[in-house]
Amino acid sequence: MTSHSSSPLPLTAHASGPLTGTVTVPGDKSISHRALIFGALAAGTTSITGLLEGEDVLCTAAAMRQLGATVVKNEDGSWQVTGNGISALAEPEQVLDMGNSGTAARLLMGLVAACPFTTFFAGDASLHKRPMGRVRLPLEEMGALITSRSGGRFPLAVTGRELMSIDYELPVASAQVKSAILLAALDTPGLTRVTEPKPTRDHTENMLRHFGATVTVTDLDTGGRVIEYEGQQELTAADITVPGDPSSAAFMVVAAAILPGSDVTITNVGLNPLRDGLFITLKEMGADIKILNKRDQAGEPVGDLHVRGSALQGITVPPERAPTMIDEFPVLFVTATFATGKTVMRGLEELRVKESDRIASMAAGLTACGATLEEFEDGLIIDGDGAPPEGGGRIETHLDHRIAMSFLVMGLGAKNPVTVDDGRVMETSFPGFANLLRRLGGDIREEDAS
Ligand code: S3P
Repeated sequence: MTSHSSSPLPLTAHASGPLTGTVTVPGDKSISHRALIFGALAAGTTSITGLLEGEDVLCTAAAMRQLGATVVKNEDGSWQVTGNGISALAEPEQVLDMGNSGTAARLLMGLVAACPFTTFFAGDASLHKRPMGRVRLPLEEMGALITSRSGGRFPLAVTGRELMSIDYELPVASAQVKSAILLAALDTPGLTRVTEPKPTRDHTENMLRHFGATVTVTDLDTGGRVIEYEGQQELTAADITVPGDPSSAAFMVVAAAILPGSDVTITNVGLNPLRDGLFITLKEMGADIKILNKRDQAGEPVGDLHVRGSALQGITVPPERAPTMIDEFPVLFVTATFATGKTVMRGLEELRVKESDRIASMAAGLTACGATLEEFEDGLIIDGDGAPPEGGGRIETHLDHRIAMSFLVMGLGAKNPVTVDDGRVMETSFPGFANLLRRLGGDIREEDAS
């Protein structure tokens, strides 16, 4: 499923004039994975409009087919998924290839933990480094058997059983772990309770409700949340319209915010309050962002973002906001190099176990582009003088789509061109990224300027 077997495709972003125009970004990655999974579990046919056709989501589509669901793309671009209930899932013939996708890997490990067969999982070099113990522990507590490489890493095999419900407190704020447990709980008798220390994206809970199930969510005085699900409820097919991914819109928003004179509208962006931390943070830094036309779409808030270029100031980002913008820190780090003063971004240890160690990858690239920064185990402090950074770096992307996109955005505003060593990695979440920026006036070329 991964595209990384052919030769790398270096891309270079050059200083660009103001960005102008209106664009729509591809569908939300988190919602797209879940739409395919729940569509395959519900009885009947679910139509999905706006599905993200990035490599990560296509891994989930292929896996659901291997597990026995019918997943087809229609001529009009929509997708149809037909399932027969969770107990109808079948043993996959092949190893499930999760490519670069931690979400596909962790959610599907949870799903098959309740299925009476063994499922083998593998992925790319990035996924093979990522911690799976966080999913393995609760699933084993429920009764599943998991055999993995050392440290709980991929490749691994999950042997499903009749599980027992659990009452589990997440050791890390992770929507993927929460979702793995909820998926394992679907066909498990009794009440499963997950307590999260800080609220994380709630697309799984929203989608369960959308498919007719009851989920109880209680806010705690500590700021955390308790999610309760009574197993063996019936899921009924329900059509889904996937909103544009706020994590993809983030790159367009920052590009417009840092380039003086820009005037860009991004339509149909998902604005789930557990995903909008970057937009709040950018506004606190002085960005000119307006939300227009706010509406509800299949249980998720959606709106259009109107962004104009403006001067930005450094701020301290509250650590408790991190889960609502966890994927947006790479591009916020870039933003901070354009701001005046210090931007303090701490409490981000989770960034060290994403598609790459995003603190290390970003610190190395930003330093190569002349930024002034201090690196900590849990984040960065970046000091800007309000002038564009030098740029000129050649960036190692480490199989990490968000590192590639962040540095291409930086190159549009930096004094010298910025080159990323491999633009193909962006296919995992944002097919057409470079073309969309070009349509707004961004100068991105297939060349190696180093
Ligand atoms: C995701 C949850 C987040 C996020 C990832 C998608 C999801 O990971 O970084 O890109 O769809 O549940 P964690 O839950 O591990 O923080």
